[in-house]
Amino acid sequence: MKTRCKLLVIILSLLPLLANAQVRIERTFEKGWKFTREDNTDFSRKEYDDTQWQSVTVPHDWAIYGPFSVNNDKQNVAITQDGQKEALEHAGRTGGLPFVGTGWYRLAFDIPEYSPGRKATLLFDGAMSHARVYINGREAGYWPYGYNSFYVDATPYLKAGEKNTLAVRLENETESSRWYPGAGLYRNVHLVINEDAHIPTWGTQLTTPVVKKDYAKVNLKTTLVIPVGKHLADYSIVTELKDRNGKVVATDKKQGGNFDEGIFEQELIVTLPALWSPDAPELYQAVSKVYEGSTLKDEYTTPFGIRSIEIIPDKGFFLNGERIVFRGVCNHHDLGPLGGIANEAGIRRQIRILKDMGCNAIRTSHNMPAPELIRACDEMGMMVMAESFDEWKSAKVQNGYHKQFDEWVEKDLVNLIQHYRNNPSVVMWCIGNEVPDQWNGDRGPKLSRLLQDICHREDPTRPVTQGMDAPDAVVNNNMAAVMDVPGFNYRPHKYQTSYKKLPQQIILGSETASTVSSRGVYKFPVVRRSMQKYDDHQSSSYDVEHCGWSNLPEDDFIWHEDFPYCIGEFVWTGFDYLGEPTPYYTDWPSHSSLFGIIDLAGLPKDRYYLYRSHWNKNEETLHILPHWNWEGREGEVTPVFVYTSYPSAELFINGKSQGRRTKDLSVTIDNSTDSISTADFKRQQRYRLMWMDTKYELGTVKVVAYDKNGKAVAEKEMHTAGKPHHIELIPDRSQIKADGRDLSFVTVRVVDKDGNLCPLAENEIRFKVKGAGTYRAGANGNPASLESFQLPRMKVFSGMMTAIISSTDKPGKITLEAIGKGLVKGVLTIESK
Ligand code: GAL
Repeated sequence: MKTRCKLLVIILSLLPLLANAQVRIERTFEKGWKFTREDNTDFSRKEYDDTQWQSVTVPHDWAIYGPFSVNNDKQNVAITQDGQKEALEHAGRTGGLPFVGTGWYRLAFDIPEYSPGRKATLLFDGAMSHARVYINGREAGYWPYGYNSFYVDATPYLKAGEKNTLAVRLENETESSRWYPGAGLYRNVHLVINEDAHIPTWGTQLTTPVVKKDYAKVNLKTTLVIPVGKHLADYSIVTELKDRNGKVVATDKKQGGNFDEGIFEQELIVTLPALWSPDAPELYQAVSKVYEGSTLKDEYTTPFGIRSIEIIPDKGFFLNGERIVFRGVCNHHDLGPLGGIANEAGIRRQIRILKDMGCNAIRTSHNMPAPELIRACDEMGMMVMAESFDEWKSAKVQNGYHKQFDEWVEKDLVNLIQHYRNNPSVVMWCIGNEVPDQWNGDRGPKLSRLLQDICHREDPTRPVTQGMDAPDAVVNNNMAAVMDVPGFNYRPHKYQTSYKKLPQQIILGSETASTVSSRGVYKFPVVRRSMQKYDDHQSSSYDVEHCGWSNLPEDDFIWHEDFPYCIGEFVWTGFDYLGEPTPYYTDWPSHSSLFGIIDLAGLPKDRYYLYRSHWNKNEETLHILPHWNWEGREGEVTPVFVYTSYPSAELFINGKSQGRRTKDLSVTIDNSTDSISTADFKRQQRYRLMWMDTKYELGTVKVVAYDKNGKAVAEKEMHTAGKPHHIELIPDRSQIKADGRDLSFVTVRVVDKDGNLCPLAENEIRFKVKGAGTYRAGANGNPASLESFQLPRMKVFSGMMTAIISSTDKPGKITLEAIGKGLVKGVLTIESK
C-alpha cells in the first residue's frame, strides 16, 4: 500500500514537468468570471466570497445592457470644437448608457502549467478604464487608458499548485468621453506562461526593408529575456518563415553574441514573395525557436506580410510601388447593439460590408484598436491608420486623457506601436485628433514632434499623421509641417492653400464629409442643409445634409480625384456609433450618431451606394432613392436620385420617361465653389444622377443605365409597396462555429405579399431562438430608439432591423422565429458546427 502511495506521489509531482514540455502556454480567460457594479476594497482579497455576484463571460461590456437614461453622463457643456458658445445640456452625447462608475471582475483559476522558475504575464487587450489588477489579493498593475493593450508581470504573485484569484477594478469617470466608450473587460484577457528565458510580450520587430518582384529581405529583431547569471551567447534562435500554406520558405539560425544587448537580429530572403495588398492579403509567419544549448526554451510566432509603403511628394501614397488612394472610413470601436466588445464575427462583418463598398482603409478613431480588428484587416485586406488619442495636454472633456497625458502618453504610444508594428495592414500611425493644443503655437508643434519621434523610434517604417481641424493655425505655427503626413479634418477648400505652404507636398483628408442621414427617411423640399433638425430626430437620406463644419461626399471626392497631392480620405464615419447624435445634441432620446454610411444595425443607408458607385469600380452599382410609398404626396415634386457606376441613365415613372441624366464631368473644383453652384448641387451632378422635378404617383419607378458607348446595360425597378404581409429573414452567414462566440447577423425585412420592402413599416417583431443558439441582440438603426438591444423584440425602422444570433458550445441547428402582429411569421434555420 505504502509503495503504491509513493508511486502516486511521484507521478503527481511529475505532472507539472510533463506540462512543462510545452514551453509557451497561452490561455484566454473567457469563462467563469464574476462581476459586480458595487465597490469595496475587500473585493481584491483572495478569499472574498463572490458567489452572489453575476456570472459573466469576457469580453463583457457592462453598460450595453442599459437601461438608457437621459441622466447617464449628462454633460452640461459647450462643445467649443463644434462652435458652441454656451453650455447646453448634452443628454445622449455618450450614448445614454450606464458606463459611469465602478465595476469589479473576479476569476478563480488553476494553472497546472505554472511552476516555480517559470514566468507569467497577464495581457489585457483593453479594459475600460483605470484598470487596477490584483492577483491573489496583491496589486499587480494599473493602466488608466481604457483603449490600450497592456500587460502585467504576474510571476511574483501567482501560486503554483493552488487556486489563484484575479480581481480587476475598473472605473469610468463622468465627462471622460465624447462618445460611448463601453465599460469593463470589453476585450480579451490572456495569461502567458514562459520559461525563464523567453521572448517577452510583443518581443519581435519584423520589417521588410527590400521588397522586389523576385525577392524580399526580411529583417527580424527578437528580444530575449534571460535569467540573471546567463549570457546571450548561451542561446540561439532558429527562425523559419512560412508561407500561407505552411511551407517553409526561408530559415536562419543565429547564435547570441555578448554584445547584442538582448536583441537577436536576423535577415532572411524570400524569393518570389507574394505581396500583401488589400486585393491580395497574402500573409506569412515567422516561427522563432529559442534554444539554450539544445534545450528548447521558447517558440514565438510573428504573423507578417511583405509589402512596401512610400509617400512621394506631389505623387501620393504608394503600396508595392503602385499609387493607391485612401478610400477610407473612420470608425469608432463599438459594434452597435453589441457595445464595445471585441467580437470577431461582428468585426469581420463590418469589414466585409466595407470592402464591398470599395473601402480600402479604416482609421481607428480616436484610439487603439482591438487585436481582432487588426488581425481581420491583415487577413481580409484592409489598410489601417492606427490611432491613439483624442486629447493631449489640453482638455476637450473635463476628465479626458489630458489628465493622464504627462505620465502616460509615451507608455501608451509604445504599447500601440509595439503591439501592431508587425501587421501589414497597419500603414500609418495617427498620434492625435483635433487636439486643442493645435491652437497653442508653443505647445502643439513641439508635442507633435515629440510623439512622432516616439513613433519613429519604435517603428521607423511607417509614416505618422494626425487629424487637424484648424488648418490656418497649424500651417502658421508649423504643427502641420512637422508631420510626415499632414492630415486635415474637413475644410477641403483649405487644402490648396495649405498645400502651397507646406513642405511635404501632400494632403491627407484624415476626416471628411460628416454628412448626416437616417436610413429610409427622406425630407422635402430636397435642399442642401446644414445642422438641420426635424421633429422626428432624423436626417434626410437624400444625402444633402451635413454639419456646420462639414460637407457632402462629392465635396471630397472631387479633391482626391483631381489633385495627385491629395492622397485620399477617411469619411466620418463608416458605421453609425453610440453617442454623438449631432445635430440633436440636446434632444433626448437621440443618443447615437447619424454620420454613418451604414447604420447602427449594420444596414447600408442610401449613401453606401453613392460611395460604392465611386469607390468600387469592379462591381455594378445601380441604386434608386427615395422609396416609392408617398401616399398624400401625389402630384407633388418628389426628386429621384440614382447612384450608379454607369455614366448615364434614363428614369421612367409608370413607363413614362423622365429623361436621361449623364454624370457631368465638366464640373471642377474651380467652377463649382460659388454659393449658387453649391446650392444647385453642381458637384453632385458629377457623381449622382438627379431628377429634381419628378412628381410622385403610385406605381413603378424604373431606371435604365447606359454605358459609355450609350448602350443600355442594366436596369432596376422599384414599386410602391402594398400592405405589410410577411417577415423575411436573411442571415449574413448561414453556418457559424459552435464556440459560443460566433454570430449570425440576420436582416429582418417587413415586406408586402410580393416581397417589396414596406418602407414605412414600424411593426414590432418578437423573436424566439431554438436549438443550439441564443438571441444575442438586435438593432434597428433608429438613433432615437430607446428599446433594449438584448430583449428579443424590437420595432423595425423603415421596414428593417438586424437580429443577432449567437452559437453555443454545442453544434446543431439554430432556428430563429420572427413573429409580428398581422404578419406571416418568418422562420430561418442556420447551422452551428
Ligand atoms: C470631428 C471629430 C470627430 C467627430 C466629428 C463629427 O471634428 O474629430 O470625433 O466629432 O467631428 O462631425
